[in-house]
Amino acid sequence: MTGWLWGFFILAGGLFCVKMAYVFSTALALPATEGALYVSTARLRIAAALEAVPMAPGDLMVDLGCGDGRVLRLARRRYGVRGVGYELNPLAFLKARLLCMGRPDIDIRMRNFWSADLSGARVVFCYLFPDVMARMADKLAADLAPGATVVSCNFPLPGFRPEQVLRPGGSRHNDPIYIYTAAEIKGNSGATT
Ligand SMILES: C[S@@+](CC[C@H](N)C(=O)[O-])C[C@H]1O[C@@H](n2cnc3c(N)ncnc32)[C@H](O)[C@@H]1O
Repeated sequence: MTGWLWGFFILAGGLFCVKMAYVFSTALALPATEGALYVSTARLRIAAALEAVPMAPGDLMVDLGCGDGRVLRLARRRYGVRGVGYELNPLAFLKARLLCMGRPDIDIRMRNFWSADLSGARVVFCYLFPDVMARMADKLAADLAPGATVVSCNFPLPGFRPEQVLRPGGSRHNDPIYIYTAAEIKGNSGATT
């Protein structure tokens, strides 16, 4: 009986520590992430986005705010692409680094993505926060090569027309996924200012 009790306390203590680590790392990153919390995209939604955006082996996919790096791992497994993920939340960064260990073609960087050079990206993925989307549209218009594709989970790029809007899965995972071509964003850059 005391064995069960110890087990319960150890489990509860472990869960409490994980929760506290999430709270502290979120509080630490929040001023820089401007409202974007560490929340992972459901695998079902990532699979739908990858289905809609075919890539070739060796293409570069960039996840702006990569969380635990799952988008890059799934894309690599499906298409053999290279991945770069930017992440400022220490807990998410550590998790992504651990989970991507042994995959040299995925590079997880603890850096602010606003200074990232996206010119080599074939696909840019983001799941951010409405407040930053207009600025993001300007950055994408400035950085991306004409053949690139942007996948934005939940929040659109204001002022731009998506090529596709996906609503995959059942009611729990039904938020929109917006897909844009860089040509469309570049062609209309200035629409947000
Ligand atoms: C909603 S999560 C999405 C995680 C992952 N892309 C996914 O779909 O599973 C957004 C992440 O972006 C990160 N983030 C927000 N602004 C950032 C910035 N300027 N530089 C680097 N990471 C940022 C946050 O820390 C957070 O973990």
